[in-house]
Amino acid sequence: MMSIMRDFPEDFLWGSATAAHQVEGGNYNNDWWEFEHRPDAKVAGPSGDAIDQYHCYRSDFELLAELGQNCHRLSLEWSRIEPAPGEWSQVALDHYRRVLETVAECGMTAFVTVHHFTNPRWFAERGGWLAPDAVDVFARYCDRVATELSDLMPWTCTINEPQVVAFEGYRQGYHPPGHRDRGEWMKVTRTFIRAHRAVVDLFPRAGFTLAIDDIEGDPELAAEQQYETIDVYLEDLRGDFVGIQYYTRAVMDADSPDLMAAPPEGTPVTQMGWEIHPEGLLKGLRMIAAPGLPVVVTENGIATADDDERIDYLEVHLRMVARALAEGLDIRGYIYWTSFDNFEWAEGYRPTFGLVEVDREDDLRRIPRPSAHAFGRVARSGRLADLRAAG
Ligand code: BGC
Repeated sequence: MMSIMRDFPEDFLWGSATAAHQVEGGNYNNDWWEFEHRPDAKVAGPSGDAIDQYHCYRSDFELLAELGQNCHRLSLEWSRIEPAPGEWSQVALDHYRRVLETVAECGMTAFVTVHHFTNPRWFAERGGWLAPDAVDVFARYCDRVATELSDLMPWTCTINEPQVVAFEGYRQGYHPPGHRDRGEWMKVTRTFIRAHRAVVDLFPRAGFTLAIDDIEGDPELAAEQQYETIDVYLEDLRGDFVGIQYYTRAVMDADSPDLMAAPPEGTPVTQMGWEIHPEGLLKGLRMIAAPGLPVVVTENGIATADDDERIDYLEVHLRMVARALAEGLDIRGYIYWTSFDNFEWAEGYRPTFGLVEVDREDDLRRIPRPSAHAFGRVARSGRLADLRAAG
């Protein structure tokens, strides 16, 4: 029950997210590391030490809990857990056990992503998601993770944004393996759907986290994009919940080599070049709730050098979540992307999405931004107005 005063229910999950490759550092055994180091890499720079969270996880989680977050989303690095096919690193599994225990000790609910973009190099070398037995190989990894860690995984995301891996990796070529092939894109999309189905029942409460853009523009391309990146996933969706990850509007454009148009001149954009378009989140929430599973906002956030802009962004997007709740949609939480400034894939370290700044010139020092405190106030009270209230 929601009291009159609250915009969000008492048991709402409030957290922020990271992904292993973006924060851990030293993930040299995965396909992203290889991609970052290609001579012709279309990547701003290598991930390197990232923010060294492989070692600093305890102080990082303590900080997030102090900032008022009751949930933390993070991912497991497949290439550490299974460094060679069928060969398991007990040290890595034990490490993640300690990591997940620490999340719980800090009083936060763990939201664990099993696959967030990166694949072990050996998996990529044997054909990646195009290999005929990719689903079986992925399922073997998930089975091991579930056996070892599922007692510490109250919420599990099987595969993060399969649409982005498929589209950026196989259609636009900005992520590994760097292909531009419409047929491969569609094939990999269906492989991800099979992969999710193969593993979703291994975990106590699991779901897909889906990238949901507000798709517009060229009617033919938009229809294809809507089907291939959204509807195909929603039309027989399996799992205990579904995660929505929303950032912006995608305007399809047949004349653009990337198939998408840049926002018109003069439109305010984020450091990613993305238009701020909060209405798309409400549209996306209605769309993703339609199949009837509980929904979690598993990512939403802004890359900006101006933290006031981040607070504005939180306000307009949280308002959409509150409206969707008022409409009766079953939304269980809101997880901001991202906890700490980190390795933003092909864009390197330039975009700063973090609630907490990381000073790369000063020993990766963590500096919470005002937006982190603002977010924490809303998390504690469940009232949107507290985003701007003092102390
Ligand atoms: C991904 C994150 C990424 C963020 C911002 C999502 O596509 O899950 O890993 O950093 O969006 O681009």
